[in-house]
Amino acid sequence: MSKVLVISGHPDLDASYTNSVIIKQVSQHLTDVSVRRLDQLYPDYKIDVAAEQQALIAADIVVLQFPLYWYSVPALLKKWIDDVFSFNFAYGTHGDKLKGKELILSFTIGGPAESYDPLGYNHFTVEQLVHPLQQTAYLAGMNFQTPIYTHRMVYIPGVYNKLEEVQARAEDHAERLLKTIEVISDSSQAKITTMIRQWFAQFDQLGSDTQVYTRYLAESVEWSSPEGDFIGHQGFEDWYGIARATFKPNCQHDIHQIDITPQGDGYQVELRVLLTADTYPESVMKGERISLPVNEVWQVKFNSQGVPMIYSYQVTPVLEK
Ligand SMILES: Cc1cc2nc3c(=O)[nH]c(=O)nc-3n(C[C@H](O)[C@H](O)[C@H](O)COP(=O)(O)O)c2cc1C
Repeated sequence: MSKVLVISGHPDLDASYTNSVIIKQVSQHLTDVSVRRLDQLYPDYKIDVAAEQQALIAADIVVLQFPLYWYSVPALLKKWIDDVFSFNFAYGTHGDKLKGKELILSFTIGGPAESYDPLGYNHFTVEQLVHPLQQTAYLAGMNFQTPIYTHRMVYIPGVYNKLEEVQARAEDHAERLLKTIEVISDSSQAKITTMIRQWFAQFDQLGSDTQVYTRYLAESVEWSSPEGDFIGHQGFEDWYGIARATFKPNCQHDIHQIDITPQGDGYQVELRVLLTADTYPESVMKGERISLPVNEVWQVKFNSQGVPMIYSYQVTPVLEK
């Protein structure tokens, strides 16, 4: 079972109408959860960095729960990130303490959905506004889960919304958050995540042994990548030959996002991976050092020994807007 850590970034949770509901639901429904109320722990904004880092190390899934304030996290939560995500903890040569942990942003928003649009009065999408937090997760090597948020959560009696409306939305929000946590904690998903990490660790080395890959590939695997379409183990080996003739060994695959969703009798895996590599001068990449973000979509099913097997593997380079 995964350990869940909820960081409550509301500056005054006792005065909250919605974050308090979400936190209460999550605390009641999860067995292995710890909630850290920053407003109670640090009314003076003096964060106990060692205690917070210890709590993070013990967690598998980290939830940042907050109300959106000025298109960002409240100041108390920002201070927590600034202090706790420190050099050689979250980044730097020895800064691998958060690597592989799941990060879920769970937040409430005052404005309506239609305002978070290029034509609305908030101009930017919610996803655009959380890019700094998404990049924080990437730098720390955390898996950035699709954020969970709810609009129209501001309650000002007689002015904005009705209390029972915002609280019903908060209940619904909590259900979505619990569902996401349940899906990530599922042991099948954990097995797939382990396989994904092993897979890319092998790719970093680009060794000659293809069995380290084919043990996870169905005999009939369909492989589709910018280099072309390939079928079966032989097809994979043909593709791998091209990869080894292009990229030098000891390249780096940074896994930025892993979304695993049940589909039929298997799972769909969606990945965002950043490949950084030196290339051979005689290859199509002409010896350049590349930094290439790609989206990958895999179809995975477990075989009779409980090993996750890839049936379909699609790679598409990300075209940054
Ligand atoms: C200081 C402050 C800044 C806020 N900024 C925003 C904002 O940028 N966008 C928005 O849609 N709502 C904004 N709101 C509304 C809050 O997001 C909303 O009140 C909150 O999500 C409700 O959560 P609670 O019931 O747990 O307090 C802001 C509210 C406050 C008090």
